[in-house]
Amino acid sequence: MQKRKLMRVLEGETVSPPPIWLMRQAGRYLPEYRAVREKAGGFLNLCYTPDLATEVTLQPIRRYRFDAAILFSDILILPDALKRGVRFEKGEGPRMEPISASEIEALADKPVTETLKPVLEAIQRIREALPRETTLIGFCGAPWTVATYMIAGRGTPDQAPARLFAYRYRKEFLILLDILADLSAEYLIRQLEAGADTVQIFDSWAGILGEQDFYDFAAKPVARIIERVRTVRPDAKVIAFAKGAGLQLKTYRQITKADAIGLDWTVPLEFASELQKDGAVQGNLDPLSVVAGGTAMRDRAQAILDVLGNGPLIFNLGHGITPEADPEHVTDLVNTVRGG
Ligand code: CP3
Repeated sequence: MQKRKLMRVLEGETVSPPPIWLMRQAGRYLPEYRAVREKAGGFLNLCYTPDLATEVTLQPIRRYRFDAAILFSDILILPDALKRGVRFEKGEGPRMEPISASEIEALADKPVTETLKPVLEAIQRIREALPRETTLIGFCGAPWTVATYMIAGRGTPDQAPARLFAYRYRKEFLILLDILADLSAEYLIRQLEAGADTVQIFDSWAGILGEQDFYDFAAKPVARIIERVRTVRPDAKVIAFAKGAGLQLKTYRQITKADAIGLDWTVPLEFASELQKDGAVQGNLDPLSVVAGGTAMRDRAQAILDVLGNGPLIFNLGHGITPEADPEHVTDLVNTVRGG
């Protein structure tokens, strides 16, 4: 069999037209997702029921024939497995018990494998059901981003609770990052064993950190994950998405040794083209342009193709697609990228 397109790009090949998938491609903008979500009785139940997770993972593949499927799950499954009481209340976003410095060391002894089992089972089922040519992406959150939710107990606009915690309790905070990195590495290894072709590490809050803290809290823990994964699976391919990291992305690639670097929409294309000299990039259309649709979307997509299309590129958004996006606009986007 020919290598899957996205995997070829991760090896540094230029594939034309580039493979396309969208972050959060299974989600609330799709009526078929909302129907399953309604029946599932809660988002976590959807994540922990392999049949349902498989179904919603496949929905965007059926509709758009994307080049990759991403496992339907969430980065907060790991704190849930660590018994932090994760909940998703409708219209409110995630909640959990805020962790204190004195609770951190004990996390290392919490068994997580039972909780994660259904996720690995979903991966097996998804791989069996996917078209041969479609890449399957597994994922986890980066330690810094997961830690921000564990410390605040919720999403915040600036991650002030986690930044303060890191400054005040540096020793405990670094232990937390190490524990999360080691668990994440183990989790990703299991996902690859279960049938994921590649994995993505989401560091959605990397961009809120100053230079040295970005290095210590974002880049180094992700490097640790990737190094550990490759000790067990030397050929593992990894995509690392550090949202908002801007100029730091160049050193980020060197430190983490990720095969592809995810780009949010604020990354200038000329700078992205520089990054591409060292390997694949993924991104970076503004998700709001998909809400607008029409030329606002197509012109921006075309600009990405013009500047980055002659190198190893995975076409994607610069962050997750939003619930307000019209599914027809996504069809239009896929056609634009594929030259239809
Ligand atoms: O990309 C995909 O389609 C795969 C599934 C996926 C989800 N979340 C499903 C989800 C992935 C890869 C994630 C990652 C994730 N989760 C991140 C990193 C990427 C990013 O978006 O920044 C983060 C920070 C989270 C944490 C999280 N999960 C938040 C803040 C929220 C609430 C905000 C929101 O969009 O509702 C979630 C819930 C969530 N995760 C939903 C989905 C489809 C919506 C749940 C619902 O159906 O109500």
